[in-house]
Amino acid sequence: MKKKYLLALDQGTSSSRSVLFDTHGQLIAMDQKEVLPRFPAPGLVEHDPHALWRTQLETAQNVIARAGISTRDILTIGITNQRETLVAWNRLTGEPLCPALVWQDRRTQALCEQLIESGHEALVQARSGLRIDAYFSAGKAKWILDHIPAAKACADAGHLALGTVDSWLLWNLTKGANFATDLTNASRTLLFNIRKNHWDTSLLDLFELKSSYFPEVHPSAHQFGFADPQWLGHPIPITGMAGDQQSALFGQACFKPGMAKNTYGTGCFALMNSGGTFQLSANGLITTLNAQSTLSSPSYAAEGSVFVGGAVVQWLRDGLHAFERSADIEKLARSVPDNGGVTVVPAFSGLGAPYWQPDARGTITGLTRGTTLAHIARAALESIAFQSTALLQAMNRDAQATARAELSELRVDGGASSNNLLMQFQADLLGIPVIRPAVTETTALGAAWLAGLNAGIYSHTDELAELWQTDTCFTPSMTRDEAAGKMAQWEFAVRQACVPQ
Ligand code: G3P
Repeated sequence: MKKKYLLALDQGTSSSRSVLFDTHGQLIAMDQKEVLPRFPAPGLVEHDPHALWRTQLETAQNVIARAGISTRDILTIGITNQRETLVAWNRLTGEPLCPALVWQDRRTQALCEQLIESGHEALVQARSGLRIDAYFSAGKAKWILDHIPAAKACADAGHLALGTVDSWLLWNLTKGANFATDLTNASRTLLFNIRKNHWDTSLLDLFELKSSYFPEVHPSAHQFGFADPQWLGHPIPITGMAGDQQSALFGQACFKPGMAKNTYGTGCFALMNSGGTFQLSANGLITTLNAQSTLSSPSYAAEGSVFVGGAVVQWLRDGLHAFERSADIEKLARSVPDNGGVTVVPAFSGLGAPYWQPDARGTITGLTRGTTLAHIARAALESIAFQSTALLQAMNRDAQATARAELSELRVDGGASSNNLLMQFQADLLGIPVIRPAVTETTALGAAWLAGLNAGIYSHTDELAELWQTDTCFTPSMTRDEAAGKMAQWEFAVRQACVPQ
């Protein structure tokens, strides 16, 4: 029988990628184009919506050409995307009304602080699972209506579309036929009630917004429409969509409560499947929706992020010129037996969960006359694992408090997961196996699998769990006492980083 394929479109903050998988989940071909955000002023981070769509389409066309297959053999398309980033466009013309406001953009911080001071945080948390923060889309939507006259005019005329990147890509792929999103993306807006799975009137009112501006919300595995034949030569169905971190959790086959993944990118995103009961964290994490194929019985994840993960390696490379290529850090760090008592806390822009210290600043402590660049490199690498451990331990504390399953292994992906020294140290600190899968493009794989579920290629997530394969398992080799001692040294250094500077 002729081989068939699934195409995943993965639109991220710094690149658009398209990945072709076969029905066994094997990666067949991939294409990638850089698409960097602009930083017009401190705190502002924008993307050109046209560039997001154009680069995404080009990579899809390229990957098909590279694999030398017929588009008729692509059974389905899945879309995954940078979350929270908001695009505003005119539904009549399809034209964007302003740059996309990226999740990292902080221009709505003052608005968010005002809402917190006015006592709205508890309501927002109880319904959306999130904290009031500029990170999420709601403030961005309000800012666009307040500052972009063309958007306000469109809103008044009933033609405004406000959507996350998934819905912008879907709109373009279907030439304006479908304006929809999935519930994982909706769950990142601050406007979506994740207990009832609908746009929440009170939350919309809080930000002076209307549900009519936003896309229809569907399960992540759903028939979202068909790619117009002009783009890929054939009307391929689009049957999966999910925000990138939830898509990675799905692509890591973390289908059961207590299963978790950590993505080691510029920052790190850890998500733990927490099952069907809505629970708020007592330890600084947020509650979000898992990618799923139904709207009627929500399934949740606990999420936390480390702001500076792989970025600390980039800082050593570009700021301190410690080595030429990021991958060189492993060799430098291995050239010393340990960190020599040095701790690096890369709080370049504050510390995220579970610390939530926006004013913390980076520190290097424990320096002696014998400290070398290698010790600092080793400590910098370790800082990624320390921060991730603090996050994952907070998840475990939440799980313990509510008698939910705790973490028994950690599945990893993202660029820095290829660093064996880092992964071994992560396993040592956590005291559980750290597992790197055979396919590390798990974000794209998750989108492909969601699409495959709706398209009937797979009948159940059990089938997907069987397709998921381990590449390397890092088992802990440190005593728990030694690991606790290292964490205590880390926490001590964190306190130094939080001293006002
Ligand atoms: O929440 C932001 C996240 O979805 C961005 O992911 O991979 O584009 O940095 P990434």
